[in-house]
Amino acid sequence: MKLSKEPLIGKEAIAERIAALAAEIAADHSGAPLTLIGVLKGALPFTADLMRLLPGDVTLDFVRARSYEGAASSGRVLMHYMPEVEIRGRNILLIEDILDTGRTASVILGELRALEPAQLHLVALLDKPARRVIRVEADYAGFTIGDDFVVGYGLDYSERYRHLPAIYVLEEDAP
Ligand code: IMP
Ligand code: MG
Repeated sequence: MKLSKEPLIGKEAIAERIAALAAEIAADHSGAPLTLIGVLKGALPFTADLMRLLPGDVTLDFVRARSYEGAASSGRVLMHYMPEVEIRGRNILLIEDILDTGRTASVILGELRALEPAQLHLVALLDKPARRVIRVEADYAGFTIGDDFVVGYGLDYSERYRHLPAIYVLEEDAP
């Protein structure tokens, strides 16, 4: 496996899109307190960049989920770490790196919904709608991409490449 020569999404394009998302989110929340919940580890850079563009009363925490691909590839998702900040009665923005099958986001949204937030919204930097198995839509989506495996800007392949400042396609080696 190797990285595409050119990024699929360069760092300037990422920064520009995040600024637009932040403006949209700020306008929708018109100064009300907002609790950001980033999904570790992939959404770490996105969360860090987005939060610094949000004005007003902002609280930050993280969740962690693991998907276990069983032999039957059921793709069961279990929560690994839950936020410590107050969720009940708060306006929550869940921050995801990518929406793929939708399993991870739907499990985390369910867990958070059970804690009775006032509002619960989802922002995903990347959306791969072609791969969706569970119906879940982002309230705010950065980029819609095709059915490619991408890495960089938080996204990994076996824990590698998260540190890259841009997003690349992971390509098969030529035979
Ligand atoms: P889902 O549960 O299938 O929607 O996928 C959620 C998780 O799978 C993401 O949070 C990523 O960690 C991982 N994932 C899905 N597609 C990609 C990709 O193209 N590159 C890297 N990780 C991915
Ligand atoms: Mg991953």
